[in-house]
Amino acid sequence: MKRVRLTLLHNQPIGTIAPELHGHFVEMLSGCVNGGIWNTKKDDYDELILRKSADLGLELIRWPGGCFADAYNWRDGVGPVKDRPTTITNRWGPDEVENHRFGSHEFMEFCRRTGAKAWINGNVATGSPREMVEWIEYLSYRGDTTLSRQRAAHGHPEAYDVAYWGVGNECWDCGGKFTPTTYGEAYRRFESAIPRYKDMPMRLIVGGPDGNKPEEREVWTEGVLKTLFEWRRPRIYAVDAHFYIWGDPNGTGKSNAFNADQFSALMWRTLEIEDMFLKQREIIDRFDRGIKLMIGEYGPWHSDAWEKFFWQHVTLRDAVCVAAHLDLFHNHCDILAAATYTQLCNVLGAPFQTVDGVSYSTPVYEVFSLYKAHRGQEAIRHEVETEEIRFPFRDQTLSHQRVTASVSRAKDGRYVLTCANLDPDETAELVIGGDEITFGSARAWLLHADDPQTSHQPGRDPVIAPKSLAAKVTNGQVVIELPAAGIVKVELAR
Ligand code: AHR
Repeated sequence: MKRVRLTLLHNQPIGTIAPELHGHFVEMLSGCVNGGIWNTKKDDYDELILRKSADLGLELIRWPGGCFADAYNWRDGVGPVKDRPTTITNRWGPDEVENHRFGSHEFMEFCRRTGAKAWINGNVATGSPREMVEWIEYLSYRGDTTLSRQRAAHGHPEAYDVAYWGVGNECWDCGGKFTPTTYGEAYRRFESAIPRYKDMPMRLIVGGPDGNKPEEREVWTEGVLKTLFEWRRPRIYAVDAHFYIWGDPNGTGKSNAFNADQFSALMWRTLEIEDMFLKQREIIDRFDRGIKLMIGEYGPWHSDAWEKFFWQHVTLRDAVCVAAHLDLFHNHCDILAAATYTQLCNVLGAPFQTVDGVSYSTPVYEVFSLYKAHRGQEAIRHEVETEEIRFPFRDQTLSHQRVTASVSRAKDGRYVLTCANLDPDETAELVIGGDEITFGSARAWLLHADDPQTSHQPGRDPVIAPKSLAAKVTNGQVVIELPAAGIVKVELAR
């Protein structure tokens, strides 16, 4: 057992944890929508996914892609279903035939029913500024125009609120293979065409870097912003950076077959995201501290996902990886405005999967649910004292932190602490104290399974679900035994 001392620095608030840090990403890709959140047999939303998404509250959904966004014409997805065209994209290899049953109205309704704001990405690579302007008008114009009348004729007279509009997706690759300068120029064109409606804030998002390329990510953001700032400045609400936790057969194993060192290798890669977003923030601050930073795509992408068109097993290891992300996001909620997890269903480390038409929630769902208590609360700083984890990786020895944790304070003065044990072998003895405060009571809930390769099965109850865990209060401190690869939420009162 390894001792981990966690000290809450109650006089050091960080900021409010924006609920949008717990957002999700839905792309018209593989089984995310068709056969996922949209049950094609019933021709309706999947009942379980809709219900559990509404229970969780999805907060923010980014749609329709991803790479799909830059092949999408919004007109294909509105109007009578029988008149919608069938189109094909094959960005990722297999031919993807899309019947457009799920379009803008179905998306906005899904947001409404799951308590999410909408983030829609416009098409820069194969679309035009006019197409994007008309999409905005169709969805959100409150006055009387041909397009707003069409929206009404299609069943929705009221204008929709779209919280964010993205100008393209991954414009350095599938979104147009732009350079920082040529994308910056394209952004200027789109931005100058995008309307300014009365009483409707237009929050435009700049396509940020490929966060997985250290040699490129800073050059991209700096170059794009330079182009946007060198002459009359366009509207910019945020920059959207992407970062995946790449798996490879030797380094991190497969999604459901890995050893302890491969578990550690995945955690080590996860933690790099912090460096990525801190440097992005620094660059953005050089131009304007008011521009927000968002993380539009993140999560584990195992090597076997390539074999099954983005479907991978979602295990306890993925849950620990997601818990670590959320802890990092909370600890930097002063510099991060939103994050949308990749993707909501059947694609990569999804919170929902379907097998033979049966939908179920995965261990990742349980993490979002456990961590929900932090949303909207005030994050406060903490200190961790413990030994690092060391593990062999190829011909080197690498190390990373033993746990991630985040702490927030509710209005009534109570604290919520979450903590992920990144060690696949050792229990952590958490000793939780405060710098000048003591605790009188504590309750804890654990997500865990003995084998980190555990995943959920269709038609069975989730095996990784919150169970209460002993929290001993002695002399104002709380002691908890957090099993290897366990994730805990602790509610603390003074
Ligand atoms: O999430 C899958 C793909 O990964 C998205 O389409 C793209 O934006 C990213 O490269």
